[in-house]
Amino acid sequence: MEPLELYRDRQHACLMFTDLVEEDGQAVQANQFLIVDGDTGAIIDPGGTLAYNELFMGMTRHFPPQKLSYLIASHADPDIIAALDRWLTSTSAQLVISRVWERFVPHFTKAGKTEGRIIAVPDGGGHLPLGRHELVVLPAHFMHSEGNFHFYDPVSRILFTGDLGVSMTSGAEARVPVTELKDHIPRMEGFHRRYMVSNKILRLWTRMARQLDVAMIVPQHGAPLMGRAIGQLYDWLDGLACGVDLFDERAYQVPTAHIDPVTRQMRPALKAVNG
Ligand SMILES: [Fe+2]
Ligand SMILES: [Fe+2]
Repeated sequence: MEPLELYRDRQHACLMFTDLVEEDGQAVQANQFLIVDGDTGAIIDPGGTLAYNELFMGMTRHFPPQKLSYLIASHADPDIIAALDRWLTSTSAQLVISRVWERFVPHFTKAGKTEGRIIAVPDGGGHLPLGRHELVVLPAHFMHSEGNFHFYDPVSRILFTGDLGVSMTSGAEARVPVTELKDHIPRMEGFHRRYMVSNKILRLWTRMARQLDVAMIVPQHGAPLMGRAIGQLYDWLDGLACGVDLFDERAYQVPTAHIDPVTRQMRPALKAVNG
């Protein structure tokens, strides 16, 4: 499928790829983004080896890879940046990533590959030039990664939120923006409860995000959020208990269950279910 055009004017375009990873149920659906401003381009959250070939070829139809300025990574997870070695080989782009991950990402590549190629952003974030405009690199630490950024594009007014606001969908469903959050929450809730670190962090973030003029929130998994769904997301996050909020001493017991490598299941099965 062609990428979804989130925004386009004469100078500036934001494209979203939703179906580059084969949907065999093993790898979570993931979105990758190409932002073009004049003759400058950046990819946000390029992904792992599953997405590399398709994204590189898909991008070539819209922008010459040799002119790519940045690979921008919200954090350092496998679905974000595992194909870093191949991207650094096939383009001359610089990697923009949290300073927290600067000395860890070279483990994704052959020796020496990252030398002079990493822009390590300090915790406070900043404004990154892109063509005649800029991207705002916004602090999003612990949502979910320790060193985590979101990216605001003032031209399209899109806020790219990495793993925040994600939903578990197919690539086709991810192309349909959500305008009302209520029926969408069941696809978001489990992920946010486990992968977001704490309600305190969510509330600090919504306080910052509410200051921005946001037309669309676009996560790295699942569908973009638009219209009323944006404010509804902020409100939902403000009241969401997650991560360490939900962990107490029950989560840290010396285990009694056994891992069966044949069935790849735990033994015994849950007592509560079998009586
Ligand atoms: Fe992640
Ligand atoms: Fe992710």
